[in-house]
Amino acid sequence: MRFVLASNNKGKLIEMKAILSEQGVEVISQREAGLNLEVEENGETFADNAYIKAKAASEVLGLPAISDDSGLCVEALGGAPGVHTARYGGEGLSDEDRYLLLLKNMENAEDRRAKFVSAVVCVMPNGDVISGYGECHGEILYAPKGNGGFGYDPIFGLPEMGGKSMSEITAEEKNAVSHRGKAIEKFREELMKYYSEI
Ligand code: IMP
Repeated sequence: MRFVLASNNKGKLIEMKAILSEQGVEVISQREAGLNLEVEENGETFADNAYIKAKAASEVLGLPAISDDSGLCVEALGGAPGVHTARYGGEGLSDEDRYLLLLKNMENAEDRRAKFVSAVVCVMPNGDVISGYGECHGEILYAPKGNGGFGYDPIFGLPEMGGKSMSEITAEEKNAVSHRGKAIEKFREELMKYYSEI
C-alpha cells in the first residue's frame, strides 16, 4: 500500500522517505500526490499536530497519510520552543535566523541540555490511527557547526557521537540516532501489529 507523507518540509521529507523506504514502506509526498496543503497546527502536543496534518491529507486524498510533528525542547528555556519550534522568533525567519536567536537566548545558560522530539502519526482512510514517538537527547552548543541536515541541526550537540553536531554526522548516522528515526521505527512496529490484527 502507498502512503502519503503529509509535509512540505524538504529536510523532513528526505529523512522520512529514506527511513520508511528502507523499511519497505512505499511513500510519496503530498506534493507528488497533487496536494498543496497548509493546515493550522494549533494542537497542544506534538502528537495532536501530527494527527491534524495527517488527517487533513488523508481526508482529501482518500489514502493513508503519515505526518511527523517535531521540535526542540530546551531545559534552560522551560521546554521551549517545543511545539512552536518551526515558528520560533516569528514569521519569515530562515532556519539560521531561528537557531541564532536560540543561541542568543541561551547566552548565559549553563544548563545546555535539550532534546529533539518527534511524533509520527498515520491516519488511514477509515479513520484508524497508528503512531510512534521518539526523542533524541543532546545539548545546545555555543556556536553552530557543520553543513548537513536542516533546521536546528548545526547547534545541537550529540555527546553520544563524540560531541559532533547533528549537522556533522552523515544522513545514515542521523537516522540511526534521531528522534525521527526512533519515532518511525516505533511506528513501523505498530503498523506491522495493525496489519497482523486486521
Ligand atoms: P513542524 O513539525 O513542521 O512543526 O516543524 C518542526 C521544526 O522543528 C522544523 O521546522 C525544524 O526547525 C525543527 N526540527 C524538527 N526536526 C529537526 C531535525 O531533525 N533537525 C533540526 N531541526 C528539526
